[in-house]
Amino acid sequence: MLICNNEAGMIASALDYTEKLREITPAIYGGRPKACVNTYGCQQNVSDSERIKGLLAASGYDITDNSDEADFVLFNTCAVRGHAEDRVFGNIGCMKQQKKQRPNMIVAVCGCMAQQQSVCDRVKKSYPYVDILFGTRHSHKLPEFIYKRLTGSGRIFDISEDFSGILEGLPVRRDGNLKGWLPIMYGCDNFCTYCIVPYVRGRERSRCSDDVVREAEEMIASGFKDIMLLGQNVNSYGKGLDEDINFAKLLRRINAIPGDFRIRFMTSHPKDCTVELLDAIADCEKVERHLHLPFQSGSDRILKVMNRRYDSEAYLNLIREARKRIPGVTFTSDIIVGFPGETYEDFLETVRVVKEVGFQSLFTFIYSPRNGTPAAAMPDPISREEKGRWFSELLLTQEEISKANYKACEGKTYRVLCDEITGEGRLSGKTSCSLEINFDGDASLLGSFVEVRVDRFTNVLEGTII
Ligand code: SAH
Ligand code: SF4
Ligand code: F3S
Repeated sequence: MLICNNEAGMIASALDYTEKLREITPAIYGGRPKACVNTYGCQQNVSDSERIKGLLAASGYDITDNSDEADFVLFNTCAVRGHAEDRVFGNIGCMKQQKKQRPNMIVAVCGCMAQQQSVCDRVKKSYPYVDILFGTRHSHKLPEFIYKRLTGSGRIFDISEDFSGILEGLPVRRDGNLKGWLPIMYGCDNFCTYCIVPYVRGRERSRCSDDVVREAEEMIASGFKDIMLLGQNVNSYGKGLDEDINFAKLLRRINAIPGDFRIRFMTSHPKDCTVELLDAIADCEKVERHLHLPFQSGSDRILKVMNRRYDSEAYLNLIREARKRIPGVTFTSDIIVGFPGETYEDFLETVRVVKEVGFQSLFTFIYSPRNGTPAAAMPDPISREEKGRWFSELLLTQEEISKANYKACEGKTYRVLCDEITGEGRLSGKTSCSLEINFDGDASLLGSFVEVRVDRFTNVLEGTII
């Protein structure tokens, strides 16, 4: 673990405040306090929340999912689309009544949305019952913020960008015990013109490979079977580190950890997806045979304006290369419909790529202007209704493709990690190519790998253990 003095001091200070909070909260709340963390947005946020819950648990809080009984309520927010932001403001609004009934309660907002100055100003002015607001760089200071607020400080707002390092060794409280998130990097340097993430999460920075491997080893030792490596663009992992490492090499190192487990990862940017990486996926038996490879648009003109730095042909070549090198590989993707200036002809190019690749499934979004991004200032003459029609057309196209792909699984046998009990009391599990199959089986199989034959596709894949 590489720690500079400054970071060592920050870790010590964070841990010190967890102690201080432990001392004062029982008297304030008449026993152990309860904390509720509400998480919005992507897996990165879910992972951040696990680290925040680790700090809260270390500070003496019991973690609950019910904000009605919580003494501390946090909203870890997402800013990627307008819709996400509207939901959060609605839910923060509901805190007003609760705060009236329980004046010692603390309400806090953090994450990508909170990192924006405009949101910080709006919360300051219009949501007086929010006690604490901090951005994406200061989670480690949460115990300090709560302590100060409980001991007489005014409301606390901290979205400063003075620290962008990575603090290793702080506690984590993971939500599950089979499937776990493992962040390998933070931030993004790609500045796709529609996207707010680089502005709210700052520059890309990678964790040292020893720290990542050590955490993977700890997870495996404590029984995790499915490790999801996280980053906005995992394919550029390692840039700026003082060691000979890249994502392909990191996969090989984690794959070499003894044990029967699966390694998954997201998200892969097509421009950084190398042959070296495809070969590492093919060679590493624990790495899933699946790529979530967002292409956003099939129109070369739009891709250029989006600043994606590949064209549709390069993307399709990459898919062909991956299929050649990784037998049985499956693909999913993200697509934006209705980017400013996109015409129906551009949209049809997207449909062309969707048909040519044959994705397992798609995550499709209607373009949402984000203040401060270059695309938000571009002319956008197409109406929301028109974009909605294109969107539905794309969904219908993909539905047919997904159905055909799932139908083609019938009769095949897969190695499946049993990871959930479904609502109907059956087992559900994932194949190494990221297909989900439901089958009858005992709960004692949770966490084991079994061979499952797919019997049929209804609206899910259904199979039988063999
Ligand atoms: N770093 C990842 C994911 C980032 S956000 C990547 O590069 O793929 C997840 C998805 O949200 C993006 O892939 C994109 O499809 C979508 N998205 C981002 N900004 C958006 C916006 N302003 N409007 C609509 N969709 C957006
Ligand atoms: Fe956003 Fe592009 Fe970075 Fe993904 S790669 S987070 S879409 S700027
Ligand atoms: Fe949202 Fe931030 Fe993730 S904007 S999608 S929570 S990186």
